[in-house]
Amino acid sequence: MNSVLKNFKSYPLTKLKAWDDIQNSIKLDWNESDETIPDFILKKSIEELSNYNLNWYPPIINEELEKAISQYVKLDTKYIRYAASSDVIHEYLCLALLNPGDTVLILNPTYDNFRKTAELNRARISYFDLDDNFNLDQNLFLSEIKRQNPQVVYLVNPNNPTGAVISNNFINELLIQFPEVYFILDEAYFEFYGVTSAELVIKYQNIIITRSLSKAFGAASIRFGYLISSEKITLNIDKVINPKNVPLFTQILAKNILENSEYIHYRISLINENKSRLMKIFDLKNIKYLNSQANFLFIKCDSEEQKLNIISQLEAQKIYVRNYSHLSSTSLYFRITIGSSEKFKNVLSHFEKF
Ligand SMILES: Cc1ncc(COP(=O)(O)O)c(C=O)c1O
Repeated sequence: MNSVLKNFKSYPLTKLKAWDDIQNSIKLDWNESDETIPDFILKKSIEELSNYNLNWYPPIINEELEKAISQYVKLDTKYIRYAASSDVIHEYLCLALLNPGDTVLILNPTYDNFRKTAELNRARISYFDLDDNFNLDQNLFLSEIKRQNPQVVYLVNPNNPTGAVISNNFINELLIQFPEVYFILDEAYFEFYGVTSAELVIKYQNIIITRSLSKAFGAASIRFGYLISSEKITLNIDKVINPKNVPLFTQILAKNILENSEYIHYRISLINENKSRLMKIFDLKNIKYLNSQANFLFIKCDSEEQKLNIISQLEAQKIYVRNYSHLSSTSLYFRITIGSSEKFKNVLSHFEKF
């Protein structure tokens, strides 16, 4: 048995009651979209399936898909690689960038899966705590990088679960000050924020941006993600990637989604409207939350009892949110994904009556 697994902290999973009643549940615990992809994209993709041989492995170089990503990202394909989710991209990055015993610096709290992947690659994980309001103290962070001298720094922008962002100026400063450190910038929620650091990959060799179709695009189940980085990195990723591992139907769907990406704009505007409405309701009721540039809000309760009470009242209506009791700094918090569907109005009216 891999000795790393002895004291290994596995990814905390909430019990997914939503899957017991898919039609009537409102699943707001994992920041997926509450709407699926448009019907015409699904139909077109199903039709295209018949152009392929299902008995063959899927294409290992899909130029149409590469072109679709490149046009969406507005960068040449040489800066881009794709895989079956951004979580898998993170696995490839750990394989390509880390040696056993290397230090990986991660903000706390943040999306936990990268920690798991890095740990499995025998990295030493070091956390940099956000302050009491979950802001990043930039000067302290710079000194911490100097002190720890990590091989990799993992940053989520906008951050999950806080929704806070890191400015491009600061990212630039990091890349210049620490040219030997690889900065992985997880832009899973980029579409909601609208600001990217993608262009920095032309100038700097030490930044890797990862993206996903699991959030704004409403395609979490197809498992598709991609990275944007310098050629130095993408050529090394080619050495660790398993090109057979992106299923054919995922490739077809991803290409069609990215070629028709305009549908997300209206959804994002509805999400922003719903987020503002929810924030107004919380303000009126003196419920505290963090400002968020993503499709979720991180909400602070006065006590554990109040939090569990809110969560169970929501669950009684089959509305599922994410309890953050697994970390001491977030034990009074829960996270709720903001949706764009008609169903989401039930969530707003629930909180209005609360
Ligand atoms: C910051 C962040 N990165 C990556 C992911 C996972 O993305 P994917 O579905 O592409 O693996 C999530 C999912 O919650 C996330 O919050």
